[in-house]
Amino acid sequence: MTKENKVDAATGASFKKENIVKTENTPSPWPGPKGMIPVTSGRADDANVHNRAYLDNILVEMRLIDSVEPDLTTEIFGRKYASPLTLAAVSHLNKVLDDPSRQPMQEKVRAAKNMHVLNWIGMESNEDYEEIVKDAGDTIRIVKPFADHKKIIDELQLAEKLGAVAVGMDIDHVPGDNGKYDVVDGIPLGPISFNDLEKYVKATNLPFVAKGVLSVQDAVKAYQAGAKAIVVSHHHGRVPFGVPPLKVLPAIKDALSDTGMTIFVDGSLMTGYDAYKALALGADVILIGRGILSELLNDGQKATEAKIELLNEQLSQMMMYTCVKNTKSFDPSVLHFN
Ligand SMILES: Cc1cc2nc3c(=O)[nH]c(=O)nc-3n(C[C@H](O)[C@H](O)[C@H](O)COP(=O)(O)O)c2cc1C
Repeated sequence: MTKENKVDAATGASFKKENIVKTENTPSPWPGPKGMIPVTSGRADDANVHNRAYLDNILVEMRLIDSVEPDLTTEIFGRKYASPLTLAAVSHLNKVLDDPSRQPMQEKVRAAKNMHVLNWIGMESNEDYEEIVKDAGDTIRIVKPFADHKKIIDELQLAEKLGAVAVGMDIDHVPGDNGKYDVVDGIPLGPISFNDLEKYVKATNLPFVAKGVLSVQDAVKAYQAGAKAIVVSHHHGRVPFGVPPLKVLPAIKDALSDTGMTIFVDGSLMTGYDAYKALALGADVILIGRGILSELLNDGQKATEAKIELLNEQLSQMMMYTCVKNTKSFDPSVLHFN
């Protein structure tokens, strides 16, 4: 067997490195250059598969007597929003369409603002970020774990200056799939120590969010480092065989009880029904990424607003079926695990 060959754990057969299922070979439903918008393999190592299976096996009972139309208003970092649904950080979108008149990043910002929901912005240069938020409502800026710590601090501090309501880091974007620190758009990323995290938290007066927490261990470390919030997430399946965020959420919620930490959750939450399950399991707020991507890229701002409305309606419907009157009174005991 050459160095390039590996052994399949299930069958014992050897196969070449180039035959290992890589997402480059998976047809993409998204526009733009290959790899710009992630595509998942749909195989066992694809954490999105497990997200979907886990979500689809959570069923709800009905509690209709005394149920009323719910109030979706949600407070996040002391500010009021129309809904607990927020628009996740999805970067590179201004580079994926052939139509030069379209700017999906700005369209997303405006859709969020019009619908009174919080918007997240991820990897963008400081110049692009400044351009995108010109017309923005409330924004959380997520900075990559760059190897260059000065770049991190610059991006955090510019976001604060431009009026972000919170900043943070996607701590789950350290490893690349070659087993080394990842490199994105030619920019090297690096490790994050506890001391680094403390340093980033202290570099800003804004609440700091650790995005990409998938264990009680990281949740507690993020809290101890001074973060005010976490996103329970595996960043659309960066980690092979990643456990569904909803599966680890209750233990994380328990570990952070009485800390005042805000718990955001994402991961294949494509409908208001999916979002309901995450909220019932203890999420304070939801991030929707790929759930709005088709509408945003194909049809722009208005279609994105219509999708947010549909997601809110689905969430409201489920809350009404289960006697949940507002976003502070979700109850996991309505859930049944198949
Ligand atoms: C095209 C694309 C770009 C993304 N870019 C970022 C980013 O720059 N920073 C970040 O923290 N997360 C980024 N994400 C991850 C999302 O914020 C979110 O965690 C992930 O997609 C899971 O949510 P979903 O299942 O609702 O899509 C990106 C996701 C997509 C699809």
